[in-house]
Amino acid sequence: MTKVVTLAHYYTIPEVQQMADKVGDSLQLALYAKECNADVIVFAGVRFMAETAKMVNPKARVILPDLGSTCSLVTMTNINQLKKWRESYPDHVHVAYINSSAEHKALADWTVTSSNVEDIIAHLYAQGKKVIYSPDRNMGAYLNFQYGYDMPLWSAVCEVHDKFNKQALDELINSLTLPHFLISHPESPLPVLKQSDYIGSTAGLLNWIKAYSGDIKAVILVATEDGILYQMQVPGRTWISARRQFILAVNVIRAHI
Ligand code: 13P
Repeated sequence: MTKVVTLAHYYTIPEVQQMADKVGDSLQLALYAKECNADVIVFAGVRFMAETAKMVNPKARVILPDLGSTCSLVTMTNINQLKKWRESYPDHVHVAYINSSAEHKALADWTVTSSNVEDIIAHLYAQGKKVIYSPDRNMGAYLNFQYGYDMPLWSAVCEVHDKFNKQALDELINSLTLPHFLISHPESPLPVLKQSDYIGSTAGLLNWIKAYSGDIKAVILVATEDGILYQMQVPGRTWISARRQFILAVNVIRAHI
């Protein structure tokens, strides 16, 4: 009998998450795709995530329901230019974020996700390696800032996260009368990350919320895509997403309003 497994990223709509066999972040889904022993994988996510599933499980037929599902991290990257850029750093190790096309990853020495990028780059620096990072310049700028690295960066962004705007964020925070926390995905711009109480992958943000035991009235600002809010609902609490037009991708979750 054909074994069909449906995988969904945390960013998909609740109805898709409800019917999936496994919901996770990029790393969790890639690991599951490798180990699930499926004949067919239906991947509800971005095209590069489905490509990754095929790479780690080449025997499986991988179906991407929406072929147009892409991200500006891919569309902003010209592969020929990337190749020249990579060749201009012959003595560097090229680390590529998994949110890039298969062609892009083929030019890299290492592929990382937002869950393991910090550990892998720390490992390379500990070995005395020089590193270049692509395609996410926001994530790369954060790593350079946070750890004092000097990685040359490719310049593409995730258009959803790049719209987070520090000025709008400041205005929002100034309007709050309740205590607040800001938790952000590292694809967000550096000024927003510098202001964040926690920075992590989608799974990391979710774990932060689950472990949160502070003031019940606190406003928690979540700087990432909306789909994750579904997973952030906690029994006994009322969570309201008050996405504001100027904040664009800063979601405001209020408890007991
Ligand atoms: P993670 O699943 O690694 O958090 O990255 C997801 C993503 O696409 C961020 O936009």
